[in-house]
Amino acid sequence: MIPYELIFKKRNGGRLTPDEIRFLVDSYTRGGLPDYQMSAFLMAVYFRGMDKTETAALTQSMMDSGESLDLRGRFKVRTADKHSTGGVGDKVSLPLAPAVAAFGVPVPMMSGRGLGHTGGTLDKLESIPGFRTRLTKEEFLGVLDRVGCAIIGQTDRIAPADKKMYSLRDVTATVDCIPLIAASILSKKLAAGPESLVLDVKTGDGAFMREMADSKRLAVEMLGICREAGREAVAFITDMDQPLGLAVGNALEIRETIDCLSGAGPADLRELVVVFGGEMLRLAGKTKSAADGRKAIAAALSDGRAKRKFAEMVEAQGGDARVIGQSGGLPASKYVEAVKSPRTGTIQKLAARDVGVASLMLGAGRTRSEDVIDPAAGILLAKKVGDRVKKGETLAYLYANDASRLPPARERYLGALKIGAGQPKKRKLIWQILK
Ligand code: URA
Repeated sequence: MIPYELIFKKRNGGRLTPDEIRFLVDSYTRGGLPDYQMSAFLMAVYFRGMDKTETAALTQSMMDSGESLDLRGRFKVRTADKHSTGGVGDKVSLPLAPAVAAFGVPVPMMSGRGLGHTGGTLDKLESIPGFRTRLTKEEFLGVLDRVGCAIIGQTDRIAPADKKMYSLRDVTATVDCIPLIAASILSKKLAAGPESLVLDVKTGDGAFMREMADSKRLAVEMLGICREAGREAVAFITDMDQPLGLAVGNALEIRETIDCLSGAGPADLRELVVVFGGEMLRLAGKTKSAADGRKAIAAALSDGRAKRKFAEMVEAQGGDARVIGQSGGLPASKYVEAVKSPRTGTIQKLAARDVGVASLMLGAGRTRSEDVIDPAAGILLAKKVGDRVKKGETLAYLYANDASRLPPARERYLGALKIGAGQPKKRKLIWQILK
């Protein structure tokens, strides 16, 4: 095959065969195809798009460029996983994985790190002393066998083609292209071998996709890839206009996770855990309907089964499970500042992106992948959209280990807020379900 001809075909709006796509991905991963030809191909895809078969072939080729697991038939019950496109305060995976595993459904979860204003599941887990997110394939399978759920990070051996292509997309203005995004996400997610998948596509101010139409296109694209790959999937479009829950920042979000696993915590977080968990139990064949699944998950959160499973996972991955009790053990910051409301009124807006950036400014996030994060830093919200507040009342608490970070983060946080008269229109938490 001649790369020039394949680029020419795509540039002119043609359809590439799975073999042609595999040839391009394989040659690029091995170093045979230069950056300039892959850049031209990516730009051609940006303008001409890809159909379902092409996108599925791209995903499969990227996944096959590295290690992957095939868990089909390994367990008596079908495995299930969840993927979120990311947001601010989105810690749903943490209580969800053990809640689902408490019913004997294996949850092999491959997660990511935070970048920019969004947080990452791995960073949150690593705020638990000793917790290891880098497990070998054998260790990962061992934890899955013994506990039923394991959460690990992507290694260099998982979808190396995506790593190389993403770096190129980053500098060639081809990141915001739905087929490329869908293939990139799923080449990594499907490598951990889940047989079924719940997709949480966030929409709104703090989401990767800020417009509903784009979020829907991404959801449809990912569902198509899952279908072609023989994995049953359901996609939810959920709100990310304001942060999810009250905690934003790594150790703070672990504490909120433990609250949720204790049958308490914020209602929006609990709702997503119950709804996604219910769907995962149905997809795995554990319950007849998602409604039965939701009841089961709600019960496991209330009666301690999900929390016990979380403790088992933490211990199996080397973490100090004592943090799950009320005895502390999570990193704490030196400084805590209560931010007071400048006026009386009702919270009209709490822009998720600005809250995420404020948390990053406190030390909780990174602007470059090599940055070191402060696990104790972050924001605990006391008020959210629709809440009444009096002048001088606390709106939020800022946590930092470096006092000089507090004033700029406070400014940024206050910039996220709009306080006014009247009750704002209530936004839905779950906008749409697609199958
Ligand atoms: N996340 C990914 O993993 N890949 C993309 O292309 C965009 C978001």
